[in-house]
Amino acid sequence: MRLLALETSCDETSAAVVCDGRLLSNVVASQVRLHAKYGGVVPELATREHLRNTMPVVRQALGEADLGAVDLDAVAATRGPGLPPALVIGWRVAQALAYSLDRPLYGINHLEAHLLSPWVLGDPPAADYDNFRSNVSLIVSGGHTLLVEMSGLMEHRVLGGTLDDAAGECFDKVAKLMGLPYPGGPEVDRLAEEGSAVAFSFPRPMLARPGDDFSFSGLKTSVRYFLDQNPELKTDDARLPDLCASVRAAIVEVLVGKTMAAARRLGMTCVTASGGVTRNRALRRELEAACAEQGRVLRLAPPSLCTDNAGMVGLLAELFTKRKATRTSGIGADIQLSRNSGAVAG
Ligand code: KG4
Ligand code: ZN
Repeated sequence: MRLLALETSCDETSAAVVCDGRLLSNVVASQVRLHAKYGGVVPELATREHLRNTMPVVRQALGEADLGAVDLDAVAATRGPGLPPALVIGWRVAQALAYSLDRPLYGINHLEAHLLSPWVLGDPPAADYDNFRSNVSLIVSGGHTLLVEMSGLMEHRVLGGTLDDAAGECFDKVAKLMGLPYPGGPEVDRLAEEGSAVAFSFPRPMLARPGDDFSFSGLKTSVRYFLDQNPELKTDDARLPDLCASVRAAIVEVLVGKTMAAARRLGMTCVTASGGVTRNRALRRELEAACAEQGRVLRLAPPSLCTDNAGMVGLLAELFTKRKATRTSGIGADIQLSRNSGAVAG
């Protein structure tokens, strides 16, 4: 099975070719530089850029896989959630390809693709899905923060999520308050590596409360007040790393604490995490340490495949074809997805 997948849900135009659980290519054209001067993703610009980049990225993905379009057996694309006008570009190209090649088309839930990524892209890549273990999974991206119970590759239940800002959004917004460039998450992470996590004290929202929900807007507000009182910190190269490390520690402690509490409560011996924020070095280290201490197995995708890419979309689509699955997805239902993962009539 040779399948071409497209991902255009936000500010990355990506195309990948997958074959029997392996990535033959996974091309990502990032729009980060375009949006940086506006301090966030501008949907109109993102859409135009997807329009410009989708076909070149598809050609490159096919070229790297050494295939022509006629060699494909199926096509897939992210169906949602994401920026609606951006999603439409990838979906329309996928529809046109599937129609003209007379191949099946699969619409994939972006969050479900992240959720599966530690399995399909993890090390070792679990192409042999027999190695699957039920787990508690943390999805942390720019738009979502969810805790999910995965009882099978295709069976999952949302345990909780953020009541306001997503973890990635919180990283990006506090970075903006500090005057750091967009996207702020990687920048806070980079500076934090040289700072002290105990230099300043910030709240750990919801950590002590039972339940699987998160809330990050209070933490963001507390950073805002702190900077109002200490504006000189923004331009103090010697202390900014301390501020970044202290804020990062607060976010990471909540994410790890809630994830491990859910794993303990549900008796899960395996923990996974996915989404752009799983590139965060402190989050990866703290999850590893907590799992090692509690005797749980941790599965993560490699950092470069935690942010949006069509590879995870294609590997999930291939899994659907193998399982001939057309069922609805719990995640999709919970986040008001217009269309759930599964086979879609082209
Ligand atoms: O999954 P993703 O690529 O896109 C969405 O589906 O939203 O995640 C993007 C998010 C952004 O908020 C970005 O700042 C964050 O992931 N991110 C990070 C790091 N790398 C990316 N946040 C913290 N530390 C990082 N190293
Ligand atoms: Zn994403």
